[in-house]
Amino acid sequence: MSHHSHAVLIALITVLGLAACAQNSVAIPSQPFGRTPRGEKVTLYTLTNKNGMSVSIMDYGATIVKIVVPDRNGKLDDVALGFDHFAPYLTQTAYFGATIGRYANRIARGKFEINRTVYQVPVNNGPNSLHGGLRGFDKRIWKVEPVESDNPAIRFSRFSPNGEEGYPGNLFVSVTFVLTDDNRLQISYRATTDKPTFINLTNHTYFNLAGAGNGSILDHIVTLHASAFTPVDADLIPTGEIKDVAGTPWDFRTPTPIGLHLKETGGTPVGYDHNFVLTKGFFSNFDLAAEVEDPKSGRVLKVYTDQPGVQFYTGNFLDGTLTGKGGKVYRQYGGFCLETQHFPDSPNHDNFPSTVLAPGDVFKSTTIYAFGVK
Ligand code: BGC
Repeated sequence: MSHHSHAVLIALITVLGLAACAQNSVAIPSQPFGRTPRGEKVTLYTLTNKNGMSVSIMDYGATIVKIVVPDRNGKLDDVALGFDHFAPYLTQTAYFGATIGRYANRIARGKFEINRTVYQVPVNNGPNSLHGGLRGFDKRIWKVEPVESDNPAIRFSRFSPNGEEGYPGNLFVSVTFVLTDDNRLQISYRATTDKPTFINLTNHTYFNLAGAGNGSILDHIVTLHASAFTPVDADLIPTGEIKDVAGTPWDFRTPTPIGLHLKETGGTPVGYDHNFVLTKGFFSNFDLAAEVEDPKSGRVLKVYTDQPGVQFYTGNFLDGTLTGKGGKVYRQYGGFCLETQHFPDSPNHDNFPSTVLAPGDVFKSTTIYAFGVK
């Protein structure tokens, strides 16, 4: 292709992308990203703010593909683990950047009960069900909708029919991403059902504040505003105990390098993969849940949420077999996740905050990933 026709093609793609979101107060450029084995087109949308920060999200899995943010010297880097191309997203099992549903994290043996009916959802992680089953929300194409907003914003929505992946209720679900000029990425979820069901939604971005693929996150300094966590069994199912973090390797109430006590957590593979009980996070409050700092780049991430818990996961299962952006390999502890959500396996623990969604009720939740420098 000549240089000229290439430029025309790019202009055309941009115009088409803008036209698709014409109702937006802020136009959202888009580009083709790939195709699923079912033949569905996958499109990548990019939100950009006044500081040059950008967030790219594809409609497959309503998945965050890129988060480009400045370091303390203004140097831009992509801090979200993932891939340059679409194909590896089909085979990876790390859930990089994806929207997770209907039920984030694990449900023991894939079993739960609602109104004396027992439901069995697919078991896909040892004896348990993980992240919505065999073909959860992360493996579906979402519809794109315009958003009325002064900031760059995009909404993804889908209809999840009664019985999808074994879950009851016709569910309408949407997730809206807004990027503000103070470098905050706001993610809001909404869902309704026509039968009582369980729901737990989150985003599964792996962050490395030094840039995706640039070494381990063990030197990142973390604060978690959580005075308790939910211990787990060998298959990562909560035992039901709500345990005080004091005197344990799970005490991140003051800034602590991730690697300082990581080995003491035990588990196979060793590392953090636990739900932290947020100090005042019970729905009515919108709280600062976590703060992370990379001393080298100076990048800081603050996480705010209305959810009761956050799954702090240190990429323990990454094993160097995934080659990511720019040919960089993702090794163990190459990224961390702060998955704001309800507690794992809540349907089977009466002492955990309820994850029931009833007809007539609206599930609503918001999390903010706020970027800065120090
Ligand atoms: C879970 C991990 C799991 C990872 C990737 C996290 O939410 O807690 O156990 O390996 O997701 O699936």
